[in-house]
Amino acid sequence: MSARQVTLHDKSFSVYFPSEDIRLAVQKVAGEIERDLNGETPLFIGVLNGVVPFAADLLREMQVDCEITFVKLSSYSGTKSTGQVSVDLGLNEKIAGRTIVVLEDIIDTGLTVEKILNLLEGENPKTVKVASLLYKPDAFKGNYKVDYVGKEIPNEFVVGYGLDYDGLGRNLKDIYKIVE
Ligand code: XMP
Ligand code: MG
Repeated sequence: MSARQVTLHDKSFSVYFPSEDIRLAVQKVAGEIERDLNGETPLFIGVLNGVVPFAADLLREMQVDCEITFVKLSSYSGTKSTGQVSVDLGLNEKIAGRTIVVLEDIIDTGLTVEKILNLLEGENPKTVKVASLLYKPDAFKGNYKVDYVGKEIPNEFVVGYGLDYDGLGRNLKDIYKIVE
């Protein structure tokens, strides 16, 4: 059993999605991606650091051949988006002609993924889709479609299962939301 409530730094969080709900959401996303593949071998591009648990579980739900690589971008400081996205680790893979699925733990303003989509644009991929475990539609300002969503959530700060509050909380098995 995991704790119903946790404290990270100066803030308290209560369970929002237990691990079993997360597992079902990951299976749903994997199934939808597979359904759309038409025999292609996708290259997943995961956004570090938060995507690690989601990417690891999603990959193991995929029944077809697939590849994965990672990029690292940052936009968050504490519990707020700074509005600026910096690329800390870029792409080395050959993208031309590939079926790409960008993987995120959470899409909030959408700026991080927009930056990746802009980087990919010049590399002539065959198709680019976006998959995110969590999606905050009320915060989203992007100019693109989020093709696969595990769960839509209101505009609240969440941690666990890869998501952090200033570095802590990524190891939690459940997803928690902030107690205001
Ligand atoms: P944007 O706004 O670019 O944000 O879509 C994407 C990145 O911001 C982080 N993020 C969060 N991290 N709880 C977190 O722990 C949240 O509620 C949250 N909202 C956004 C995350 O790193 C994501 O990749
Ligand atoms: Mg992230």
